[in-house]
Amino acid sequence: MRIVLMGPPGAGKGTQATVVSKALDIPHISTGEIFRANMRAGTELGIEAKKYMDMGEYVPDSVTNKMVAARLAEADAANGFLLDGYPRTAEQVGELELILNSLGTALNKAVEITANTEEVIQRLLKRAEIEGRPDDTEEVIRRRMEVYAEQTAPLTALYADKGLLVQVDGMGSVEEVSARLLAALDD
Ligand code: AP5
Repeated sequence: MRIVLMGPPGAGKGTQATVVSKALDIPHISTGEIFRANMRAGTELGIEAKKYMDMGEYVPDSVTNKMVAARLAEADAANGFLLDGYPRTAEQVGELELILNSLGTALNKAVEITANTEEVIQRLLKRAEIEGRPDDTEEVIRRRMEVYAEQTAPLTALYADKGLLVQVDGMGSVEEVSARLLAALDD
């Protein structure tokens, strides 16, 4: 299975990707996590990404696309993957198609997890107390939501046109959402 997972900040992409990745035995590839790992390691990529992430803006496509192309070419992604948080721009949608074409393959599904804005803000503020992610302040969370609404939410229509879009309600417990998501992938 080759899946992309979309949804606003706090919808539960990372949480659900962990479950699906185990259930389907495919790697969970999160662009946000790759950027954060690079920030922790102090790499050039991490220093560049931090400039944007701390403000809730997207990292430029030129940087992100190159990173994803390299990751998808790794051996563990040959038989499937779950991309969490990529693509997020129209240019990234096109780039992903090019990458997969060049690997002789294609996506099976694009999943959008939907969630209520105030609920996801509460989830992220709670996470801020536990993990202290620099982009989990209320101001930056609201900017992340705006950027998602402007740049990423419209992309679901592209996947609907291709017949790949599956929408999953992200409200309720983690277990309830997982059950819905796995059932939708099984369809
Ligand atoms: P990224 O790390 O992907 O962050 P995000 O999209 O803002 O999403 P989150 O991680 O905040 O939320 P999530 O939907 O994964 O939910 P989670 O499971 O964690 O990206 C960060 C930044 O990196 C971007 O802003 C951008 O700058 C950059 N970036 C990344 N990809 C990029 C790209 N392609 N192009 C350009 N820039 C890019 O859950 C959130 C919290 O809620 C957790 O505490 C969790 O325990 C809790 N929770 C989850 N589900 C439930 C539930 N059902 N009930 C109650 N609590 C729940």
